[in-house]
Amino acid sequence: MMDANILFEIKNLYKTFGDGTRALVDINLNIKKGVTVFIGPSGSGKSTLLRMLNLMERPNIGEIKYLGHSILDKKFDLTDYRRKIGMVFQNFHLFPHLSVLENINLPQIKVLNRSEEEATKISKNLLEKVGLLDKINQYPNQLSGGQKQRIAIARSLSISPDVILFDEPTSALDPEMIGEVLKVMKDLVNSGMNMIIVTHEMSFAKAFADEIIVLDRGKIIEYGTPEEIFENPKNERTKDFLNRVINHF
Ligand SMILES: Nc1ncnc2c1ncn2[C@@H]1O[C@H](COP(=O)(O)OP(=O)(O)OP(=O)(O)O)[C@@H](O)[C@H]1O
Ligand SMILES: [Mg+2]
Repeated sequence: MMDANILFEIKNLYKTFGDGTRALVDINLNIKKGVTVFIGPSGSGKSTLLRMLNLMERPNIGEIKYLGHSILDKKFDLTDYRRKIGMVFQNFHLFPHLSVLENINLPQIKVLNRSEEEATKISKNLLEKVGLLDKINQYPNQLSGGQKQRIAIARSLSISPDVILFDEPTSALDPEMIGEVLKVMKDLVNSGMNMIIVTHEMSFAKAFADEIIVLDRGKIIEYGTPEEIFENPKNERTKDFLNRVINHF
């Protein structure tokens, strides 16, 4: 029986890159609806695991099911799937030659076949939501990092995804701009969006994650609620990692 609360079911997943790097080793994981945060040291496999979920990367072995359907199956409708999974990257990935409006319109027109008028209406709405309606005709190089990331989030929302994957959305930002992006993410959490987030923002994880997954050297070493992970970590390497990121020594 499928548990309707489970978004992703990952079984016996391995990823070894061509050069022999073992990025993921026997990952077994259910990702539930709500907010899931991946944490762990650099190189532990967080991005690789996230990229598996929208098949930007494919596993060598293993199974990934989305709402009970194997996304690795040859017969699986990838085009349909990709329009349900939004992605927000550390470096924004906006098109520099397109205006803010054109960036947000593009996936709606390309992926959902919306008319330009229809797309523009939705884009304006989203720009309002992220507080950037006044930037509608600017180009990405006229925006700050925090503004670019808010545009990228608006773009990911424009196709009404079921889930948004975030890979370190605030890591490339100056400290004073992190808050404005986290605020938009907080609004998304409160709107009930399913979010899977790789981040080093531990206070955000603590406040908003339903579940935290700790990766280390390609393996899941621990998972639990923020309370379990932050107040009572069981694995020594989780404790070491948290000490390093929280105390910065
Ligand atoms: N395309 C690739 N080719 C070879 N090795 C790779 C490739 N991508 C990632 N790796 C390696 O796989 C391992 C996991 O990388 P990954 O980027 O998933 O880590 P991460 O946890 O996201 O790290 P960070 O916090 O630095 O972003 C690392 O050892 C990395 O060097
Ligand atoms: Mg990464």
